[in-house]
Amino acid sequence: MRLRRWKGRTKVLQTTSRYSAVAIALHWVIALLIVANIALGLGHELFGRANELAIMAAHKSIGLTILALSLLRLAWRLSHRPPPLPAAMPGWQVLAARATHLFFYVAIIALPLTGWLTASASPLRFPLEYFGMFQLPFLPVEQSRSATGLWSEAHEILAFTTIAVLGLHIAGALKHQFFDRDDVLARMLPKV
Ligand code: HEM
Ligand code: HEM
Repeated sequence: MRLRRWKGRTKVLQTTSRYSAVAIALHWVIALLIVANIALGLGHELFGRANELAIMAAHKSIGLTILALSLLRLAWRLSHRPPPLPAAMPGWQVLAARATHLFFYVAIIALPLTGWLTASASPLRFPLEYFGMFQLPFLPVEQSRSATGLWSEAHEILAFTTIAVLGLHIAGALKHQFFDRDDVLARMLPKV
């Protein structure tokens, strides 16, 4: 690894063709938590009213953990350049990969934020406890049924778009692994 000025910023240049251990750890922890939170968000009504509140409390705490990790990840990404994509990749695939990654960076921050806004806009305002340990503040937004509906709609649309983009992302990773047989998946996997 070496440091270099790039586009006015100091970037850590990868001298290997792998993602750094920090980037890999953050990628997989955030991916796992997002999949878990999508399942909790969509499935919370299946477990009856009594469990629903506990499930939504876990959903909110996991979501806020995702927000904190995502801010860390964004800072890491802005200061570290990822390894270059295979030179043989057609332009449209490079563009598709970049657009997908950019969407994910927006989604991993906007998803928890719109969730937090939904919880803050609710006239009921269930206390926002971080895994039952301490109370978190609400965001300063209008509290009304219509505002809750609006933020919840944004939260839902973002979640469903994330599911669709995740399908493309996984299909891309599998294509690289089994059709192109390059190192794109391997460089995002922990070294064993
Ligand atoms: C990346 C993190 C998150 C993901 C992937 C996610 C995903 C989801 C999904 C899929 C739903 C169900 C949508 C529906 O069918 O209506 C949902 C609902 C909900 N989420 Fe999240 N969420 C996240 C973070 C948060 C956070 C941080 C909070 C609050 C602090 C939150 C609060 C809510 C609430 C109150 C609902 C129910 C209201 C509604 O129907 O929109 N979420 N979430
Ligand atoms: C919701 C879950 C996920 C999110 C939010 C996500 C997000 C991202 C982002 C933002 C990048 C770009 C990293 C960068 O260059 O800065 C990336 C790369 C990558 N992801 Fe995911 N990912 C998720 C799940 C997955 C899954 C399930 C797989 C495997 C099947 C996967 C495989 C990869 C691979 C192989 C790369 C490296 C691509 C490259 O070298 O350009 N991801 N992911």
